[in-house]
Formats: sequence, structure tokens, C-alpha cells
Amino acid sequence: MAPTSFREPTEGDIADIRRVAVVAWRNAYRGIYAPSTIARKVAEFYTTESLAAAIRSSRRGDSFFLLALDGSQVVGYANGKRIPSQWRDPSKPGGRVFRVSGWELTRIYLLPDHIGRGVGKGLLERWESFLRAKRAKRYFVSYNAKNRLARDFYVRNGFTRARNYDDGPTRCAIKLL
Ligand SMILES: CC(C)(COP(=O)(O)OP(=O)(O)OC[C@H]1O[C@@H](n2cnc3c(N)ncnc32)[C@H](O)[C@@H]1OP(=O)(O)O)[C@@H](O)C(=O)NCCC(=O)NCCS
Repeated sequence: MAPTSFREPTEGDIADIRRVAVVAWRNAYRGIYAPSTIARKVAEFYTTESLAAAIRSSRRGDSFFLLALDGSQVVGYANGKRIPSQWRDPSKPGGRVFRVSGWELTRIYLLPDHIGRGVGKGLLERWESFLRAKRAKRYFVSYNAKNRLARDFYVRNGFTRARNYDDGPTRCAIKLL
């Protein structure tokens, strides 16, 4: 296998990012969400418009979006941004307003065959370098309480549990830089 490389995405990568998201989400949330729910969430969260906006923001240096590649194949990605102090989840129109602020690593997903080989660590290190350049002192992640792999990965990599958003399945963890 070729060594993993990393690069910023362009709009030409959108189809590949969505392809990886479909497989990575099915793997990560198997037994947590029904297959139809997984398909609906990926379709909602990975629209062409939202990915294009995230890519443009990263290219401007306002946020972070990085691909992991095996040769020329996209095998994973990480995305992070600054969350305003009051933020309404766009996927839940009319839903609650989260009172969180600061930088969030919003996505880190790999194809199943590439899990456990140091690729996630490579993405995390690059995201943290980006944050240090922004003089950030901490950032947070959210994850589904039943996603044990994600929880254990975050604990192993220096995160501590923080306040939850609400009584739902979403957990929040913070890492100090
Ligand atoms: C979470 C994820 C990105 C981690 O990436 P990865 O490439 O598997 O992790 P790495 O191999 O780089 O591991 C980095 C370090 O974390 C440790 N680690 C990785 N996964 C771990 C786990 N599940 N439990 C405990 N430690 C773990 C490794 O041992 C390594 O430790 P070291 O630096 O001391 O050697 C990857 O497993 C993944 O894509 N999972 C599915 C998608 C997902 O759930 N994403 C999170 C959504 S919130």
C-alpha cells in the first residue's frame, strides 16, 4: 500500500468525499442507526452545496478541510471550523440553539480498511497545527455515545468529557492544546 498523503480538497473531490462518507458512515453507525437513517443523514450532511462551501472556507483559511489519500484515492477526511456562541443546528430547523462556542472538529472519517494505521492521527495532528496557528487554546468534538470506537479514540488522544448538549445521544469532549 502506498503511504498516506494529505491535501486540501477542491470542488472536484466532492463526489469522492461523499463516496467515502457513505461507506465510513455505514461502518461507523452500523447497529446504532438504521441503514435508511444513515443514508438520509449522509444525504443531508454532505450536499454538494454544503461541501462546496466548506471547501471554499478552508481554501480561504477560515476553517480546516483535509483529505487523506492512498495513492490518488481519497480514503478519509477531517473537517473543522469555528462555531459561533449561539448556533442553531441547520439539520434541525426550528430546533434548539446550542450555546457552545469555539473550534470544533466536526468530521473525521476513514474508510474501514484504513482504520488503525495512523491515518486518523495524521489528520488530527494537522488539524491541531492549523488551530495553533490560529492561537486556539482548545477545541471540541461531538460523537454518538454508542460510537465506542470514536469515544476510545478521543480518550486515547487526550480529550476529556465535557458538558453534553442535551439529554440525547450526543456527547461532547474537549482537548486543550
Ligand atoms: C476515529 C478514527 C478517525 C481514528 O483514526 P485511526 O486512523 O483509526 O486512528 P490511528 O490509527 O491514527 O490511531 C491514533 C492513536 O489512537 C489510538 N486509537 C485509535 N483508535 C482507537 C480506539 N478505538 N481506541 C483506543 N485507541 C485508539 C491508536 O492506538 C493510536 O495511539 P498511539 O498514538 O499511542 O499509537 C477512525 O477510526 C475512523 O474513521 N472511525 C470511524 C468513523 C468515526 O467514528 N469517526 C468519528 C465520528 S465522531
